[in-house]
Amino acid sequence: MSRRIIPLADVSSIPDFAGTATSPSGLLTDTLARPLRDLRISVTDRCNFRCVYCMPREVFDKDYQFLPHAALLSFEEIERLARVFVAHGVEKIRLTGGEPLLRKNIEFLIERLALLRTPEGRPLDLTLTTNGSLLARKARSLRDAGLSRVTVSLDALDDALFRRMNDADFAVADVLDGIETAQAAGLDPIKINMVVKRGTNDQEIVPMARHFKGSGAVLRFIEYMDVGASNGWNMSEVLPSAQVVERIGAHFPLDPLEAHTAAETAQRWGYRDGSGEIGVISSVTRAFCGDCTRARLSTEGKLYLCLFAVSGHDLRGLIRSGASDDEVATAIARIWQARGDRYSQLRGSASAPSREDSPRVEMSYIGG
Ligand code: GTP
Ligand code: 5AD
Ligand code: SF4
Ligand code: SF4
Repeated sequence: MSRRIIPLADVSSIPDFAGTATSPSGLLTDTLARPLRDLRISVTDRCNFRCVYCMPREVFDKDYQFLPHAALLSFEEIERLARVFVAHGVEKIRLTGGEPLLRKNIEFLIERLALLRTPEGRPLDLTLTTNGSLLARKARSLRDAGLSRVTVSLDALDDALFRRMNDADFAVADVLDGIETAQAAGLDPIKINMVVKRGTNDQEIVPMARHFKGSGAVLRFIEYMDVGASNGWNMSEVLPSAQVVERIGAHFPLDPLEAHTAAETAQRWGYRDGSGEIGVISSVTRAFCGDCTRARLSTEGKLYLCLFAVSGHDLRGLIRSGASDDEVATAIARIWQARGDRYSQLRGSASAPSREDSPRVEMSYIGG
């Protein structure tokens, strides 16, 4: 049986833009006074990996229906929406997936986005999250197209374990090769994201730290999250970041570093010997919703206000219905001004929506 597990209840909900227009001022805020600064754009729902915590093979099998090509936002549509978001205050754009490097001619999109400027005339921080499998081949053309930097996901250095975790038989050596090529191409600072699952790959924490210490890459450890509906999340598989810091600190002394910005996802720690830093992203044990400035645009053009949102706002329907840029800007302003999402902060409390009642959108559809 073919299936998709994306909630479809909102397919026809075109955002409201009637009435007074809201011209972009770069100063948009939501109900919790959070500005709109980051836009994460998913460019494909497909991936060549089947990470157990994100696209488990039992669900994302040969019968799984990925989006048809016509459903995807075109590069022209993405650029048009991105331009409006930038006018509203977005300064950082991250391309995600699925695996963004699987989107054909992704360099053409990067070229367009690299030309956008903030209202003050600054270029964007334009980045991308990849599993690294195609990076050795693509790093140079991505850099030439205008990408600022990349973040590479890597969950283990042990090859057998890595192959089990990506469940598609990809070798660690290929990802490490991709990272080196990206560094040589100047796509830095490179960040390496490791999702830590207690009992699965937590024994790789110290070897990963040892490997990347002094390399110039910033390794970040992410608490395994209850995103989506298909990864069978369980709190007992979360290793709190405090323990990650403790384990690494026992081998290589660490000191806390100041945050670059309030909205940063990671808490930074520096190696006392000056050989670089690590980060921990504690979305389960220390929620950072209070400063969350992130909007997410799905592959088919729905705007999600939270990684854990149940439904999105159909911007593709809006632009394909012939709306003007002013109308699109007004719709986005209304949506952001009504935002009150703070799922991680509410997780576990009585007011949090239950996983069973409201099927959440998958990480591979909305991007990480
Ligand atoms: P940098 O600008 O490079 O620091 O990026 P970032 O940390 O904002 O983005 P990245 O995609 O590298 O985030 C790393 C991981 O943090 C993601 O894969 C998620 O697991 C988690 N994460 C990112 N943004 C959010 C968010 O808004 N909410 C929650 N709960 N987790 C997030
Ligand atoms: N928990 C935490 N992070 C996740 N990612 C995907 N699924 C999860 C999860 N369940 C993030 C990882 C990965 C990126 C593509 O998405 O950071 O590197
Ligand atoms: Fe693909 Fe990234 Fe999800 Fe793994 S975590 S299945 S690499 S999108
Ligand atoms: Fe932002 Fe939602 Fe993540 Fe909280 S849970 S930080 S509101 S995306």
